[in-house]
Amino acid sequence: MIMEKISVIGAGSVGSSLAWLILINKLSKRISLIDIDEDWAKGIACDLNDSRFILKSDTFIEGRSDYSAVKDSEIIVVTAGSPRKPGMSRQDLLKINAGIISSVSKEIKKHSPGSIVILVTNPLDLMVYVALENTGFSSKRVFGMGSSLDSSRLANFISQETGVSVKDITPLVMGMHSKDMLVSKQSKIGVFGIEEFIPAEGFLALKEKTCNRGKEIVDYLKKGSARFAPAAAVVEIIEAIDKDSQKIIPVSCLLENEFSLGKFCTGMPCVIGKNGIEKVLQPHLLPEEKKLLSESARSFQESLKCLTD
Ligand SMILES: NC(=O)c1ccc[n+]([C@@H]2O[C@H](COP(=O)([O-])OP(=O)(O)OC[C@H]3O[C@@H](n4cnc5c(N)ncnc54)[C@H](O)[C@@H]3O)[C@@H](O)[C@H]2O)c1
Repeated sequence: MIMEKISVIGAGSVGSSLAWLILINKLSKRISLIDIDEDWAKGIACDLNDSRFILKSDTFIEGRSDYSAVKDSEIIVVTAGSPRKPGMSRQDLLKINAGIISSVSKEIKKHSPGSIVILVTNPLDLMVYVALENTGFSSKRVFGMGSSLDSSRLANFISQETGVSVKDITPLVMGMHSKDMLVSKQSKIGVFGIEEFIPAEGFLALKEKTCNRGKEIVDYLKKGSARFAPAAAVVEIIEAIDKDSQKIIPVSCLLENEFSLGKFCTGMPCVIGKNGIEKVLQPHLLPEEKKLLSESARSFQESLKCLTD
């Protein structure tokens, strides 16, 4: 079923790549592409619309800076954010992006109160929390794309290492969307445990590579960061909502106290369908994974404190 309207806030690298994929896959009749820099959003929209004839897609993209354009969106994806500039600490960036997400969330609440909101902006888990607080929407309708990208990166590495098709790999990455993510050795290849293909030290190396992949890309690019795989990971979520496919996708979601770690946002496998998060799953955690998840909770609370100080 084709959606009526998807809005993408932030027409930068990830936002424009996402609009491009939505157009190619004909997932929505319209896309509202919003950016603080309206000329930029308009320019990207013009360029994308010029491909409609060649790609035989009737998806139409409108570039705007005013939020009335997000009215009645079924899904809103938020990629707006400031990049980290020289001399800026992580905490400075956290405060700047929290300010952006807070004001964007209020606009979403005003203009499109029935939408499902997918956050992309980093630091992701905190931004999901800020969006939840400022929209007041149910936590089923506000969540973040992060662990599915990390999982896809792990699957890519496992496939390269073993020669097995990515289609037969079931990666499991949870926790913080940061270099301290939880890359689980409970990931599977077909029905087999990972250790049947890769020795423990080999998996440790793949884990390291997965945790550092974002930085590796930034180091190569020099300016900018990953855009294609993040956009593809958002499309996977949009399709699961659109088709009500009840697919298991790890997303950054609000945990109420599921692991006895209090209330915080982190990456967990969730069942995704037409209502957004249909169910938060609770995988069995190994002792070292429990430890890492409790580190995530602690780090989340510290960052939250820094936001409110
Ligand atoms: N969750 C993930 O897995 C993941 C992956 C990649 C990137 N990211 C994050 O996504 C965000 C976007 O990345 P990017 O590479 O597209 O950045 P980018 O700098 O290319 O684009 C960001 C866009 O946001 C716009 N913007 C800034 N403030 C705005 C506001 N108040 N309202 C509307 N638009 C605003 C900017 O003008 C810019 O066009 C970053 O925070 C990045 O760290 C997350």
